[in-house]
Amino acid sequence: MRTSKLLLAENVSKSYGDLLVLSDVNIDVGRAEIHSLLGSNGAGKTTFIKILATILEKDSGTVQIDGIDVEEFENDIRQIIGYVGQDTERSAYARLTVRENLLFFAKTRGIDQTDANERIAALSEIFGLENKVDSQFGHLSGGQKQSAVIIRALLHDPLLLFLDEPTKGLDPLAARKIRGHLKDYVSKKGRSIFLTSHILSEVEYLSDRVSLLYDGVIGITGKPEKLVKSIGFPEMVCLRKRSLEPSVIRTILAKEHVLHSIELDDHWIGFGIDDTYTGMESILDVLKATGTKSEIQHRHVSLEDAFIHYFGYTGEGFAAREVV
Ligand SMILES: Nc1ncnc2c1ncn2[C@@H]1O[C@H](COP(=O)(O)OP(=O)(O)O)[C@@H](O)[C@H]1O
Ligand SMILES: [Mg+2]
Repeated sequence: MRTSKLLLAENVSKSYGDLLVLSDVNIDVGRAEIHSLLGSNGAGKTTFIKILATILEKDSGTVQIDGIDVEEFENDIRQIIGYVGQDTERSAYARLTVRENLLFFAKTRGIDQTDANERIAALSEIFGLENKVDSQFGHLSGGQKQSAVIIRALLHDPLLLFLDEPTKGLDPLAARKIRGHLKDYVSKKGRSIFLTSHILSEVEYLSDRVSLLYDGVIGITGKPEKLVKSIGFPEMVCLRKRSLEPSVIRTILAKEHVLHSIELDDHWIGFGIDDTYTGMESILDVLKATGTKSEIQHRHVSLEDAFIHYFGYTGEGFAAREVV
């Protein structure tokens, strides 16, 4: 049966002993969608993605993929999903070539060699790995290894690919390439991806929808641009906290065109403005009038700003100050 949602998880709970990691979590993934699960370290992202990918058992709740219950029909589910965990190095044989690794895996999946070679050619083109297919896995760069492991998870053409922090530990250029390849894959193949990350800029670039896992529950779900818009101001002027007397902050906030303030981190405070020129002018007026000197930055609001606005900054990640 073709369901409208490719993945539907309802009331999923999981504890390790006394530690409740997931508490009645609900999530869905559409067809041809990239849906990202965000959360700080230890939030439960890996636990959740492993449950969805049939690697770990949940305590309660239901998960269906393409209308099929993942626990009842585990083997059928494994035919329609791919999974890439966090340990890339140990996901393939270092001394075999990429092709040998992929052919070996294809065999365990019952894919014949001709089909497998065709798929290896097509996928290595999408993932920019054409020239490395006959190199030893152990000799590849971090980004190339990650691409090879992702290709392996895609060999049987799964409907849904699970990726647990796919760019963790990669240099920025390699991470950017992987993101481009993933986007390419979804647009060319119409398949879906569910990924975890704690990098907000990555999630903003990749995702059709984003969910934030905090304190065992999904605090917020939506399209990245909608989440950004929902905070109600398009731009921000950021000032150095240490340069600002509390009275100056209050005066700035009382100005027209200045809508809100966000503590961005230990050093910066952002003031939401509704218009570049009038907003900037209002803030500069206060700085001049009070003799305040501060470094100044102006920028469009990002997904990261939006999350900090809703969840607050604690120095370690997000705190549920206000949940929408
Ligand atoms: N096998 C396990 N046994 C006990 N506690 C675990 C186990 N796996 C993870 N945890 C704990 O569960 C919480 C969530 O871990 P994890 O799902 O790996 O989070 P994330 O991937 O978001 O960093 C953490 O506090 C972690 O220490
Ligand atoms: Mg993890």
